[in-house]
Amino acid sequence: MTFTQPRPIDERDVLMPFDCGVEDLNQWLAERSLRAHRRGSARTYVVLGDDGLLAGYLALAATGIGRQRGPFHRDMPDPVPAVLLARLAVATGAQGRGLGRALVEHAWRTCRAVSEQIGVRGLVVDATDENATRFYRSCDFVPIATGEPTLARILTG
Ligand SMILES: CC(C)(COP(=O)(O)OP(=O)(O)OC[C@H]1O[C@@H](n2cnc3c(N)ncnc32)[C@H](O)[C@@H]1OP(=O)(O)O)[C@@H](O)C(=O)NCCC(=O)NCCS
Repeated sequence: MTFTQPRPIDERDVLMPFDCGVEDLNQWLAERSLRAHRRGSARTYVVLGDDGLLAGYLALAATGIGRQRGPFHRDMPDPVPAVLLARLAVATGAQGRGLGRALVEHAWRTCRAVSEQIGVRGLVVDATDENATRFYRSCDFVPIATGEPTLARILTG
């Protein structure tokens, strides 16, 4: 199975059925992704499989992390600006083929590109459970502090 490159969602995309195994993420895609994209509260990027069906998506938004929550210098603004990986999901039939990791890398490249225009300290994600934490750790995210469900990939410099 091959996948397209991630691209911004648009009105022609068929968002249902999509099943990643987590109902909240299926529902968000079907009911909220396009409106959020249009309004600018979260930008969604989709990937299609070679069957033309939606195989995965991610959503990015701006966020701020309380300075005392992480290893941030006192000179940093509070909250510290960052890019939030707000949603990430791969359809069950496409899982285990590297697409989840490829979507994370797309988010990271986008974060790096944004950081050249706007001050952001890195890419953060709120891991919903142990599995998600393991997945993100395998993608080079680290918890911002011991016991924190928020993980980050911090930009250097
Ligand atoms: C988590 C998810 C995005 C991973 O996507 P995927 O395409 O199956 O993942 P990949 O094939 O890119 O795998 C990347 C690595 O993560 C590991 N991994 C995949 N799913 C995992 C999971 N649920 N828990 C822990 N590790 C996982 C893989 O073993 C792989 O490691 P490796 O490269 O060392 O073999 C996908 O399973 C999914 O959408 N799950 C339901 C939605 C969800 O839980 N989203 C919350 C964010 S994780």
